[in-house]
Amino acid sequence: MARKKIALVGAGQIGGTLALLAGQKELGDVILLDIPDFEGVAKGKALDIAQLSPVAKFDAAYSGTSNYADIKGADVVIVTAGVPRKPGMSRDDLIGINAKVIGAVGKGIKENAPNALVIVITNPLDAMVGLMQEVTGFPASRVVGMAGVLDSARFRYFLAEEFKVSVEDVTAFVLGGHGDTMVPLVRYSTVAGIPLPDLVKMGWTTQERLDKIVQRTRDGGGEIVALLKTGSAFYAPAASAIAMAESFLKDKKRLLPCAAMLDGQYGINGLYIGVPVIIGAGGVEKIVEVAMNAEEKAMFDKSVAAVRGLVEATKKIVAAA
Ligand code: APR
Repeated sequence: MARKKIALVGAGQIGGTLALLAGQKELGDVILLDIPDFEGVAKGKALDIAQLSPVAKFDAAYSGTSNYADIKGADVVIVTAGVPRKPGMSRDDLIGINAKVIGAVGKGIKENAPNALVIVITNPLDAMVGLMQEVTGFPASRVVGMAGVLDSARFRYFLAEEFKVSVEDVTAFVLGGHGDTMVPLVRYSTVAGIPLPDLVKMGWTTQERLDKIVQRTRDGGGEIVALLKTGSAFYAPAASAIAMAESFLKDKKRLLPCAAMLDGQYGINGLYIGVPVIIGAGGVEKIVEVAMNAEEKAMFDKSVAAVRGLVEATKKIVAAA
Protein backbone atom coordinates (compact mmCIF):
# COMPACT_ATOMS: atom_id res chain seq x y z
CA MET A 1 0.00 0.00 0.00
CA ALA A 2 1.38 3.40 -0.98
CA ARG A 3 2.13 5.79 1.81
CA LYS A 4 -0.36 8.53 2.63
CA LYS A 5 0.50 12.09 1.58
CA ILE A 6 0.40 14.91 4.08
CA ALA A 7 0.62 18.48 2.79
CA LEU A 8 1.52 21.25 5.22
CA VAL A 9 0.66 24.72 3.95
CA GLY A 10 2.82 27.14 5.93
CA ALA A 11 6.35 26.03 6.74
CA GLY A 12 6.82 28.24 9.79
CA GLN A 13 7.06 27.28 13.45
CA ILE A 14 3.98 25.06 13.54
CA GLY A 15 4.54 23.75 10.00
CA GLY A 16 8.06 22.55 10.83
CA THR A 17 6.89 20.85 14.02
CA LEU A 18 3.99 19.18 12.17
CA ALA A 19 6.48 17.83 9.64
CA LEU A 20 8.64 16.33 12.36
CA LEU A 21 5.75 14.75 14.27
CA ALA A 22 4.11 13.34 11.12
CA GLY A 23 7.38 11.56 10.33
CA GLN A 24 7.95 10.28 13.84
CA LYS A 25 4.47 8.75 13.79
CA GLU A 26 5.03 7.41 10.26
CA LEU A 27 1.76 8.93 9.09
CA GLY A 28 3.01 9.27 5.51
CA ASP A 29 5.14 11.35 3.14
CA VAL A 30 5.29 15.05 3.92
CA ILE A 31 5.31 18.08 1.67
CA LEU A 32 5.88 21.55 3.09
CA LEU A 33 4.50 24.46 1.06
CA ASP A 34 5.15 28.16 1.66
CA ILE A 35 5.16 31.40 -0.39
CA PRO A 36 7.96 31.75 -2.99
CA ASP A 37 10.05 33.95 -0.65
CA PHE A 38 10.03 31.12 1.89
CA GLU A 39 10.40 28.20 -0.50
CA GLY A 40 13.97 27.82 0.74
CA VAL A 41 12.68 27.51 4.31
CA ALA A 42 10.21 24.81 3.23
CA LYS A 43 12.94 22.91 1.36
CA GLY A 44 15.49 23.42 4.14
CA LYS A 45 13.18 22.12 6.88
CA ALA A 46 12.19 19.16 4.66
CA LEU A 47 15.83 18.22 4.08
CA ASP A 48 16.78 18.69 7.72
CA ILE A 49 13.99 16.40 8.93
CA ALA A 50 14.73 13.85 6.20
CA GLN A 51 18.30 13.73 7.51
CA LEU A 52 16.96 13.18 11.03
CA SER A 53 14.91 10.16 9.92
CA PRO A 54 17.75 7.56 9.97
CA VAL A 55 18.59 8.57 13.55
CA ALA A 56 14.96 8.66 14.66
CA LYS A 57 14.27 5.44 12.71
CA PHE A 58 11.33 6.28 10.48
CA ASP A 59 10.70 6.18 6.73
CA ALA A 60 9.00 9.10 5.02
CA ALA A 61 9.77 11.18 1.94
CA TYR A 62 10.12 14.92 2.59
CA SER A 63 9.99 17.83 0.16
CA GLY A 64 9.49 21.59 0.14
CA THR A 65 7.79 23.72 -2.50
CA SER A 66 5.93 26.93 -3.29
CA ASN A 67 3.95 25.29 -6.08
CA TYR A 68 0.44 24.02 -5.31
CA ALA A 69 0.67 21.44 -8.09
CA ASP A 70 3.01 19.52 -5.76
CA ILE A 71 0.26 18.88 -3.18
CA LYS A 72 -1.74 16.89 -5.76
CA GLY A 73 -3.26 13.78 -4.27
CA ALA A 74 -2.74 14.84 -0.66
CA ASP A 75 -4.85 12.87 1.82
CA VAL A 76 -4.60 15.54 4.50
CA VAL A 77 -3.74 19.23 4.23
CA ILE A 78 -2.88 21.06 7.45
CA VAL A 79 -2.97 24.85 7.12
CA THR A 80 -0.89 27.17 9.28
CA ALA A 81 -0.29 29.79 6.58
CA GLY A 82 -0.63 33.33 7.88
CA VAL A 83 0.80 35.40 10.68
CA PRO A 84 0.89 34.56 14.39
CA ARG A 85 0.24 36.90 17.33
CA LYS A 86 2.79 39.19 18.92
CA PRO A 87 2.53 40.38 22.55
CA GLY A 88 -0.45 42.70 23.07
CA MET A 89 -2.38 41.25 20.12
CA SER A 90 -5.51 39.15 20.33
CA ARG A 91 -6.14 36.35 17.85
CA ASP A 92 -8.84 38.56 16.34
CA ASP A 93 -6.28 41.21 15.37
CA LEU A 94 -5.01 38.79 12.73
CA ILE A 95 -8.20 38.72 10.62
CA GLY A 96 -7.11 41.31 8.06
CA ILE A 97 -3.97 39.52 6.92
CA ASN A 98 -5.01 35.93 7.53
CA ALA A 99 -8.37 36.15 5.72
CA LYS A 100 -6.49 37.06 2.53
CA VAL A 101 -4.04 34.22 3.09
CA ILE A 102 -6.85 31.68 3.63
CA GLY A 103 -8.50 32.91 0.40
CA ALA A 104 -5.35 32.15 -1.60
CA VAL A 105 -4.56 28.89 0.17
CA GLY A 106 -8.15 27.63 -0.11
CA LYS A 107 -8.06 28.16 -3.87
CA GLY A 108 -4.81 26.21 -4.15
CA ILE A 109 -6.22 23.33 -2.12
CA LYS A 110 -9.51 23.23 -4.02
CA GLU A 111 -7.71 23.00 -7.35
CA ASN A 112 -5.04 20.52 -6.34
CA ALA A 113 -6.21 18.38 -3.43
CA PRO A 114 -9.99 18.17 -3.90
CA ASN A 115 -10.35 14.97 -1.87
CA ALA A 116 -8.25 15.91 1.16
CA LEU A 117 -9.28 16.43 4.75
CA VAL A 118 -8.35 20.04 5.53
CA ILE A 119 -7.31 20.88 9.09
CA VAL A 120 -7.05 24.62 9.72
CA ILE A 121 -4.86 26.03 12.49
CA THR A 122 -4.53 29.65 11.31
CA ASN A 123 -6.09 32.18 13.70
CA PRO A 124 -8.60 33.53 14.46
CA LEU A 125 -9.46 29.87 14.12
CA ASP A 126 -13.25 29.71 14.13
CA ALA A 127 -13.55 32.42 11.46
CA MET A 128 -10.66 31.12 9.32
CA VAL A 129 -11.92 27.52 9.21
CA GLY A 130 -15.37 28.79 8.13
CA LEU A 131 -13.76 30.86 5.41
CA MET A 132 -11.73 27.84 4.26
CA GLN A 133 -14.89 25.75 3.92
CA GLU A 134 -16.52 28.55 1.93
CA VAL A 135 -13.54 29.05 -0.40
CA THR A 136 -12.96 25.35 -1.08
CA GLY A 137 -16.65 24.45 -1.20
CA PHE A 138 -15.68 21.09 0.36
CA PRO A 139 -18.28 19.27 2.45
CA ALA A 140 -18.12 20.50 6.04
CA SER A 141 -17.13 16.99 7.14
CA ARG A 142 -13.79 17.51 5.33
CA VAL A 143 -12.89 20.95 6.72
CA VAL A 144 -12.19 21.09 10.44
CA GLY A 145 -10.43 23.45 12.82
CA MET A 146 -7.82 22.60 15.45
CA ALA A 147 -8.38 24.41 18.74
CA GLY A 148 -10.22 22.23 21.25
CA VAL A 149 -7.58 19.50 21.38
CA LEU A 150 -4.99 22.16 22.23
CA ASP A 151 -7.15 24.03 24.74
CA SER A 152 -8.12 20.74 26.39
CA ALA A 153 -4.47 19.65 26.48
CA ARG A 154 -3.55 22.86 28.27
CA PHE A 155 -6.38 22.27 30.77
CA ARG A 156 -5.27 18.64 31.25
CA TYR A 157 -1.68 19.63 31.85
CA PHE A 158 -2.59 22.27 34.47
CA LEU A 159 -4.91 19.78 36.21
CA ALA A 160 -2.27 17.04 36.24
CA GLU A 161 0.18 19.52 37.76
CA GLU A 162 -2.38 20.53 40.41
CA PHE A 163 -3.28 16.94 41.37
CA LYS A 164 0.24 15.53 40.95
CA VAL A 165 -1.05 12.73 38.73
CA SER A 166 -0.09 11.54 35.28
CA VAL A 167 -1.34 13.67 32.38
CA GLU A 168 -2.48 10.37 30.88
CA ASP A 169 -5.19 9.96 33.51
CA VAL A 170 -6.64 13.45 33.12
CA THR A 171 -9.38 13.93 30.56
CA ALA A 172 -10.81 17.39 30.03
CA PHE A 173 -13.26 19.14 27.82
CA VAL A 174 -13.17 22.61 26.36
CA LEU A 175 -15.97 23.84 24.11
CA GLY A 176 -16.83 27.03 22.25
CA GLY A 177 -14.62 29.41 20.30
CA HIS A 178 -10.82 29.42 20.45
CA GLY A 179 -10.55 32.67 22.37
CA ASP A 180 -11.09 34.32 25.71
CA THR A 181 -14.68 33.06 25.78
CA MET A 182 -13.82 29.34 25.45
CA VAL A 183 -15.76 27.11 27.83
CA PRO A 184 -13.74 24.61 29.90
CA LEU A 185 -16.39 22.10 30.99
CA VAL A 186 -15.42 21.24 34.54
CA ARG A 187 -18.23 18.71 35.04
CA TYR A 188 -17.06 16.60 32.11
CA SER A 189 -13.38 16.71 33.09
CA THR A 190 -12.03 13.88 35.19
CA VAL A 191 -9.06 12.12 36.74
CA ALA A 192 -9.47 8.47 35.72
CA GLY A 193 -13.25 8.98 35.56
CA ILE A 194 -13.64 10.98 38.80
CA PRO A 195 -15.24 14.32 37.82
CA LEU A 196 -13.55 17.53 38.98
CA PRO A 197 -16.47 18.64 41.23
CA ASP A 198 -16.07 15.33 43.13
CA LEU A 199 -12.35 15.92 43.45
CA VAL A 200 -13.11 19.31 45.03
CA LYS A 201 -15.42 17.54 47.51
CA MET A 202 -12.67 14.99 48.19
CA GLY A 203 -10.31 17.84 49.10
CA TRP A 204 -7.91 17.34 46.18
CA THR A 205 -8.24 21.02 45.34
CA THR A 206 -10.47 23.99 46.14
CA GLN A 207 -13.07 25.66 43.93
CA GLU A 208 -10.92 28.80 44.00
CA ARG A 209 -7.84 26.98 42.68
CA LEU A 210 -9.94 25.26 40.05
CA ASP A 211 -11.35 28.62 38.90
CA LYS A 212 -7.77 29.90 38.53
CA ILE A 213 -6.85 26.86 36.40
CA VAL A 214 -9.88 27.46 34.18
CA GLN A 215 -8.82 31.07 33.68
CA ARG A 216 -5.20 30.06 32.99
CA THR A 217 -6.51 27.64 30.35
CA ARG A 218 -8.48 30.45 28.69
CA ASP A 219 -5.35 32.62 28.69
CA GLY A 220 -3.04 29.70 27.79
CA GLY A 221 -2.09 30.95 24.33
CA GLY A 222 -1.49 34.51 25.54
CA GLU A 223 0.78 33.29 28.35
CA ILE A 224 3.08 31.71 25.76
CA VAL A 225 2.95 34.71 23.40
CA ALA A 226 4.04 36.94 26.29
CA LEU A 227 6.99 34.63 27.03
CA LEU A 228 8.13 34.01 23.45
CA LYS A 229 7.64 37.64 22.36
CA THR A 230 8.35 36.75 18.71
CA GLY A 231 5.31 34.58 17.92
CA SER A 232 2.88 32.11 19.40
CA ALA A 233 2.88 28.52 20.66
CA PHE A 234 3.88 25.83 18.19
CA TYR A 235 4.77 22.49 19.79
CA ALA A 236 1.38 21.78 21.41
CA PRO A 237 -0.67 23.19 18.50
CA ALA A 238 1.24 20.93 16.10
CA ALA A 239 0.83 17.83 18.29
CA SER A 240 -2.90 18.54 18.57
CA ALA A 241 -3.41 18.74 14.81
CA ILE A 242 -1.38 15.56 14.35
CA ALA A 243 -3.74 13.74 16.75
CA MET A 244 -6.63 14.79 14.48
CA ALA A 245 -4.79 13.79 11.28
CA GLU A 246 -3.86 10.42 12.79
CA SER A 247 -7.46 9.68 13.78
CA PHE A 248 -8.49 10.38 10.18
CA LEU A 249 -5.68 8.48 8.44
CA LYS A 250 -6.00 5.41 10.69
CA ASP A 251 -9.81 5.64 10.99
CA LYS A 252 -9.39 5.61 14.76
CA LYS A 253 -12.71 7.38 15.39
CA ARG A 254 -11.35 9.35 18.31
CA LEU A 255 -13.71 11.72 20.08
CA LEU A 256 -11.92 15.06 20.03
CA PRO A 257 -13.03 18.64 20.60
CA CYS A 258 -12.64 20.41 17.25
CA ALA A 259 -14.09 23.41 15.43
CA ALA A 260 -16.82 21.86 13.28
CA MET A 261 -19.65 23.29 11.21
CA LEU A 262 -22.88 22.94 13.17
CA ASP A 263 -25.99 21.92 11.31
CA GLY A 264 -28.69 22.33 13.94
CA GLN A 265 -26.69 20.76 16.78
CA TYR A 266 -26.65 22.88 19.93
CA GLY A 267 -29.39 24.94 18.24
CA ILE A 268 -26.88 26.50 15.82
CA ASN A 269 -26.79 26.45 12.04
CA GLY A 270 -24.00 27.14 9.58
CA LEU A 271 -21.36 28.22 12.09
CA TYR A 272 -18.00 26.65 13.01
CA ILE A 273 -17.59 26.28 16.76
CA GLY A 274 -15.65 24.01 19.11
CA VAL A 275 -17.65 20.88 19.96
CA PRO A 276 -16.86 17.19 20.54
CA VAL A 277 -16.64 15.31 17.24
CA ILE A 278 -15.71 11.84 16.07
CA ILE A 279 -12.93 11.87 13.48
CA GLY A 280 -12.51 8.82 11.26
CA ALA A 281 -11.89 7.97 7.63
CA GLY A 282 -14.97 10.04 6.70
CA GLY A 283 -13.50 13.16 8.32
CA VAL A 284 -15.88 14.66 10.88
CA GLU A 285 -18.19 11.66 11.10
CA LYS A 286 -20.36 12.77 13.99
CA ILE A 287 -20.95 15.85 16.11
CA VAL A 288 -21.62 14.87 19.69
CA GLU A 289 -24.14 16.93 21.65
CA VAL A 290 -23.48 16.97 25.38
CA ALA A 291 -26.01 18.30 27.88
CA MET A 292 -25.10 21.64 29.45
CA ASN A 293 -26.50 23.16 32.62
CA ALA A 294 -27.75 26.77 32.66
CA GLU A 295 -24.40 28.23 33.64
CA GLU A 296 -22.48 26.27 30.99
CA LYS A 297 -25.08 27.13 28.35
CA ALA A 298 -24.76 30.85 29.21
CA MET A 299 -20.95 30.64 28.75
CA PHE A 300 -21.37 28.69 25.51
CA ASP A 301 -23.87 31.25 24.15
CA LYS A 302 -21.45 34.06 24.97
CA SER A 303 -18.70 32.24 23.11
CA VAL A 304 -20.97 31.62 20.12
CA ALA A 305 -21.82 35.35 20.04
CA ALA A 306 -18.10 36.21 20.03
CA VAL A 307 -17.48 33.81 17.11
CA ARG A 308 -20.44 35.29 15.20
CA GLY A 309 -18.87 38.74 15.64
CA LEU A 310 -15.57 37.45 14.25
CA VAL A 311 -17.27 35.83 11.28
CA GLU A 312 -19.10 39.09 10.49
CA ALA A 313 -15.84 41.06 10.72
CA THR A 314 -14.17 38.52 8.40
CA LYS A 315 -17.04 38.78 5.89
CA LYS A 316 -16.65 42.59 5.79
CA ILE A 317 -12.91 42.34 5.22
CA VAL A 318 -13.33 39.74 2.46
CA ALA A 319 -16.09 41.81 0.77
CA ALA A 320 -13.91 44.95 0.86
CA ALA A 321 -10.86 43.17 -0.62
N1 APR B 1 0.70 30.70 1.51
C1 APR B 1 1.52 29.83 2.13
N2 APR B 1 2.21 30.15 3.24
C2 APR B 1 2.05 31.39 3.75
C3 APR B 1 1.20 32.34 3.14
C4 APR B 1 0.51 31.96 1.96
N3 APR B 1 -0.30 32.78 1.33
N4 APR B 1 1.26 33.48 3.88
C5 APR B 1 2.11 33.25 4.90
N5 APR B 1 2.59 31.99 4.83
C6 APR B 1 3.56 31.32 5.69
C7 APR B 1 4.67 32.25 6.20
O1 APR B 1 5.62 32.53 5.19
C8 APR B 1 5.22 31.45 7.36
O2 APR B 1 6.29 30.60 6.99
O3 APR B 1 2.96 30.85 6.88
C9 APR B 1 4.03 30.60 7.81
C10 APR B 1 3.54 30.92 9.22
O4 APR B 1 4.53 30.53 10.08
P1 APR B 1 4.90 31.35 11.42
O5 APR B 1 4.96 32.80 11.11
O6 APR B 1 6.08 30.70 12.03
O7 APR B 1 3.58 31.14 12.33
P2 APR B 1 3.18 29.85 13.21
O8 APR B 1 3.67 30.04 14.60
O9 APR B 1 3.52 28.61 12.49
O10 APR B 1 1.58 30.06 13.27
C11 APR B 1 0.81 29.99 12.10
O11 APR B 1 -1.17 29.31 13.30
O12 APR B 1 -1.67 29.20 15.57
C12 APR B 1 -1.79 29.93 14.39
O13 APR B 1 -1.95 32.19 15.20
C13 APR B 1 -1.14 31.27 14.50
O14 APR B 1 -2.14 32.17 12.54
C14 APR B 1 -0.94 31.63 13.07
C15 APR B 1 -0.66 30.28 12.41
